[in-house]
Amino acid sequence: MTQNADFDALKTQLNDIGQSQVLQFSENLTPEQTAPLLEQVQKLDFAKIPGWVDQYVWNDGSLKVPEVFEPAPSYPVEPKTDEQTEKYAQARKIGESLIREGKVAGFVVAGGQGTRLGFDGPKGNYPTSPIKKKTLFQIFAENLLAAAKKYGTSIPWYIMTSPLNYDATVEIFENADYYGLGKDNVFIFQQGTLPNFGFDGKILLAGKDRIATSPDGHGGSLKALYNSGAVADMRKRGVELLSYWQVDNPLIHLIDPLFVGLHVMDKAGMSSKALLKAGPLEKVGNFCQVDGKVTVIEYSDLPDEAAHRTNEDGSLAFELGSIGIHMISIAFIEKLNADGDFALPFHRAVKKIPTIDTEGNPVKPEEPNGIKLETFVFDAIPMADNSIILQTRREEEFAPVKNATGVDSAEVTYQMMIDRSAAWLEKAGITVPRKADGSPDCVLEISPSFALDAADVKAKVDQVPEITADCEIYLD
Ligand code: UD1
Repeated sequence: MTQNADFDALKTQLNDIGQSQVLQFSENLTPEQTAPLLEQVQKLDFAKIPGWVDQYVWNDGSLKVPEVFEPAPSYPVEPKTDEQTEKYAQARKIGESLIREGKVAGFVVAGGQGTRLGFDGPKGNYPTSPIKKKTLFQIFAENLLAAAKKYGTSIPWYIMTSPLNYDATVEIFENADYYGLGKDNVFIFQQGTLPNFGFDGKILLAGKDRIATSPDGHGGSLKALYNSGAVADMRKRGVELLSYWQVDNPLIHLIDPLFVGLHVMDKAGMSSKALLKAGPLEKVGNFCQVDGKVTVIEYSDLPDEAAHRTNEDGSLAFELGSIGIHMISIAFIEKLNADGDFALPFHRAVKKIPTIDTEGNPVKPEEPNGIKLETFVFDAIPMADNSIILQTRREEEFAPVKNATGVDSAEVTYQMMIDRSAAWLEKAGITVPRKADGSPDCVLEISPSFALDAADVKAKVDQVPEITADCEIYLD
């Protein structure tokens, strides 16, 4: 088809769904400007857009909090009964052998920028470790390398970026020579985007030759894994399970045999790790159960009464917080594709969206002027036949770098990384000097190549030098 024929067909399609304004400036565009615009238009989901406008622009059709929901059951950090002890041991064995057989891969969602941190560029490039200032990407890469070595296998790594940071991310990995993982073992791909809408239901333009779009949220990851060829790549390699995590958390245990094993033993499609919330209103998703299905209700949606509800012993009724750590079966991703195009519900956000006026002049709105839609990966959990939740400890596995200061800031992460190293060393019988307030009186960093957990430190205890007050020790 020629560009003209293409153009006319797309114009008609846009007209039919009441979105002809998208091409309103096209007559004055050069062919070079028109081509990318048409490419954007071609990607629009013409069949669904009128429904989205109706459901999410005219109405707030975002998921409603269900009327009846209860706390979700979970596996505790440590087994509590003989039966559980037996199950955990068996799960570890099963998990380990699946990892050894190369059936488990890593998957990080890294579409976000470091904006909230005041950092320019992909968040994964944020320098995070206490002494060597390793970036988040480097920490994850070294963890994967060390896990592959420990289990005598290879562990491919899938990385989802967004159109905002795909090029920059690829460049970071090229420059770092893929952190020693080998280019073949790193699969970087882009998530999809969704058009932004004005309050009049019209798709907004970011320029005369550009539609205003935004990334489709981490819920887009399952579809993007499929569409990018990552799932096909996994099938070729024999990968059956994906260990999913968020780019902001350097403490994550990327490859956890217990989590893998419990997920498989319980025939789960998508599982989660959880921790006990720091308080009723902590800004994490809440694990609930709706009609027997595990469901995450975001902190902003959980009714106040439910957030504050307590059990007889004073503990929170909804005590399990989501930390964006999941185990996902490849078969589940394929099922979501077969069942209907990964149809996750949209969440609607009213935003200030840069656009142009009727003359084509740029407009930087001072007030919200439109709607962005996004999907959340945890909305896929209830679509799985089975799903388990495994509790973990905050100090062991969750220290996200989200904000410039205060809660979930780099400063807190820095201290938590040192605290975890100190705890691992002390578990191995090594004395760590502590200040009057109980915090370690030294700066510690344990490289993943030295230890992936406390047990690894114990096995290498003779390689650890004496730790004196005020010292700086890097173990690798
Ligand atoms: C998220 C979760 C929250 C959880 C918390 C734990 C949501 C809506 N909430 O909050 O339930 O308790 O983390 O830390 O997710 N990302 C993409 N593409 C996108 C959007 C996000 O790849 O389009 C990635 C980010 O790079 C990041 C992760 O998804 O790795 C989480 O996104 P973020 O916006 O940081 O979520 P939070 O609001 O912090």
